[in-house]
Amino acid sequence: MKIALLGGTGHLGIGLAVRFAILGHDVIVGSRKLEKAKMKAEEYNDILESLGEKARVRGLANEDAAREADVSVFTIPWEHAFSTAEFLKVALKDKIVVSPLVPMEKRGKTFYYTKLPEGSAAEKLASILDSKVVSAYQTIPAEKFARFDESFEWDVAVCGDDEEAKKIVIDLTNQIDGLRAFDAGPLAVSSMVESITPLLINIMVRNKMKDLGVKFVYKLRKG
Ligand SMILES: NC(=O)c1ccc[n+]([C@@H]2O[C@H](COP(=O)([O-])OP(=O)(O)OC[C@H]3O[C@@H](n4cnc5c(N)ncnc54)[C@H](OP(=O)(O)O)[C@@H]3O)[C@@H](O)[C@H]2O)c1
Repeated sequence: MKIALLGGTGHLGIGLAVRFAILGHDVIVGSRKLEKAKMKAEEYNDILESLGEKARVRGLANEDAAREADVSVFTIPWEHAFSTAEFLKVALKDKIVVSPLVPMEKRGKTFYYTKLPEGSAAEKLASILDSKVVSAYQTIPAEKFARFDESFEWDVAVCGDDEEAKKIVIDLTNQIDGLRAFDAGPLAVSSMVESITPLLINIMVRNKMKDLGVKFVYKLRKG
């Protein structure tokens, strides 16, 4: 599958780009600047080669990346994601768009979830785009996700209104070693997932922890 990481030059972008490339997907790193995209693609390809994998990441300007890809992930800080969405609206029409956006603000030593009138960042993205928006990846600790010699076991809550698009994102996520994706419902519940991230950060800061992720512990119901 062709996967674009829009603004994939940052913290979350590197982990997703390298891990999707390891799986054999056609990965495109997007940036506002073509040169930066190409430079980062080279960097990610060096990592792939050091892991004994094929160098298969390409760098393009965000607009070209969005136009080419089947699935585009908005790995862009939430404050800048909505203006970027306006700019990419035509390129992303009818495509699958993944929102890992976490709107949050720091007051004193504590992070708070920022409530948006649309309900959540993913719903705001959906209100701008004519795309199939799926909400996922908010609780992945990006730093550890980009340490390719370490293992992890994290769960990913995925929500969205287009069932087929949601299934594609769940399947893609389950392909990544150490991630397990769960259908969490429609896009209207995205705020519940987005608001877990400031909770995790507050727990980490106050308890001197790092790399805190999410894992659901459960038993399957009989019948
Ligand atoms: N970091 C985490 O642990 C983590 C975990 C889960 C979810 N998330 C979410 O994932 C998203 C990306 O987080 P991140 O930490 O990867 O972000 P980041 O590293 O701070 O930024 C990612 C990229 O966004 C682009 N960007 C910056 N300012 C922009 C602007 N004004 N307009 C358009 N693009 C701009 C830049 O790419 P170019 O300069 O190349 O254009 C930058 O490399 C956020 O919404 C965050 O809430 C983050």
